[in-house]
Amino acid sequence: MSTFHCAQSASFDGSTSSAFNNITFCVKTFGCQMNKHDSERVCGMLESLGAQWVEEIEDADLVVFMTCCVREAADTRLYGQVASMKNIPLRPGTPHSKRIVAVGGCIGQRDGQKLLDALPHLDVVFGTHNLGSLPKLLAKSLEEGSRNVEILESSEQFPTELPTDREHEWAAWLPITIGCNNFCTYCIVPFVRGREKSRPLEDIVAEAQRYADAGVKEITLLGQNVNSYGRDLYGHPRFVDVLDAIDATGIKRLRFATSHPKDLTDEIIRRFGTLRSLMPALHLPVQSGSNRILEAMNRRYTREHYKELVAKLREACPEIALSTDVIVGFPGETEGDFQDTYDLIDEIGYHQVFTFIYSKREGTPAAKIDDPTPHEVIQNRFDRLVDVVQKHAWERNQVDLGKTVEVLVEGTSKRDARLLAGRSPKNQTVHALIPAGLDAKLIQGKFLNVSIDEAKTWYLSGSVIEGSLHD
Ligand code: SAH
Ligand code: SF4
Ligand code: F3S
Repeated sequence: MSTFHCAQSASFDGSTSSAFNNITFCVKTFGCQMNKHDSERVCGMLESLGAQWVEEIEDADLVVFMTCCVREAADTRLYGQVASMKNIPLRPGTPHSKRIVAVGGCIGQRDGQKLLDALPHLDVVFGTHNLGSLPKLLAKSLEEGSRNVEILESSEQFPTELPTDREHEWAAWLPITIGCNNFCTYCIVPFVRGREKSRPLEDIVAEAQRYADAGVKEITLLGQNVNSYGRDLYGHPRFVDVLDAIDATGIKRLRFATSHPKDLTDEIIRRFGTLRSLMPALHLPVQSGSNRILEAMNRRYTREHYKELVAKLREACPEIALSTDVIVGFPGETEGDFQDTYDLIDEIGYHQVFTFIYSKREGTPAAKIDDPTPHEVIQNRFDRLVDVVQKHAWERNQVDLGKTVEVLVEGTSKRDARLLAGRSPKNQTVHALIPAGLDAKLIQGKFLNVSIDEAKTWYLSGSVIEGSLHD
């Protein structure tokens, strides 16, 4: 990992730095890219205070859990994981008699003091609005052995004002908004991430320019609903202005996540056909194909509107790869509602669909709706949906057979170290044999052209075109 310091860094409490000398730390991250990005900031802060990053909990004096509560499974697992920390022996040579454990992210924000009460081995709890306080809280625990919690109601600063340690040198996540104002009735995110706030365009562009100048190849703009960027800035600048400005930095690849269909304008759609750096891939969560359920979800669009968006996207950019999220078993979903979802997914034919079984989240409006539908019925709907999703994912990938695609190399395949793994413009995983004389490590973050001769459901493979390695 390499530490990247923002020009306006040090807006966190660094006065406690000596507490981190000779300390090793690891960060375990769950949930969405927003959390992954926050984890990069946590790593950046702790490294700049002298602590050393390690991968495994066994080797760490200090463990930070960055948590997610969007569905129940991850939520309940976290309590067990933190409780089991007491069974992991301390690393030999540690300067401390106890491993310090911290919980942050969305469960930290939601549960605060409750976590300390339930988990005697937990030392620090922080939330989504005060990443910058983490060093101060950890230092107190390290120096005094005290247990510390701090949760704020809303953010005082963008996490982007903190140093970062990016997972990959060639790719950067760049938050342009934090929070969410949409209040989909099933979703906990607005309650744990607060109201939507747009980051000033000048800051976004300055950070993007630093990345482009430093040789970063791909920027992914982040927000719960990036399409509504600027609404809190009196409607100007808007999301298209961000896209245009980042394209002008010279960055090779630009992506963004997540989009809300109700805010995807014609202007944004047109950029897929015209903006040099914007990759032909879009994640556009539909959640359901039933108008009745979409209304109950408070999604504020219809299946007809969604289909119209897809048609416009494919007209603007015929090769565009679409992906989506679907929730099966929203309270009150009937077989007819599910059939509408199934038909829509079958009709659109996505490259990828993330399917979720509805999970009741206390405090959300949908949690109050009773639903007698047995779990087996919902599971059966889910399984049927997965089948049609896989059929289309396979079919969509067949289109690339025989084509040459430009691949941004990420590393080697997990299954076979002789194969390189990378991403196509459409965000497909691509494998190819590493050409003789090339070192997989040295070509990470570079481009290669690959001629595709095999197309599977979840990846493409082929052979590298000789002499195609480029920046
Ligand atoms: N802001 C993004 C991401 C939200 S969370 C968006 O609006 O798309 C990612 C996905 O988790 C959602 O798109 C939704 O499909 C799923 N999700 C959210 N709450 C859920 C719940 N209570 N049960 C099941 N899936 C849920
Ligand atoms: Fe949740 Fe809806 Fe906001 Fe996405 S847009 S984070 S699903 S409330
Ligand atoms: Fe999970 Fe929080 Fe993201 S609840 S999905 S980590 S915003």
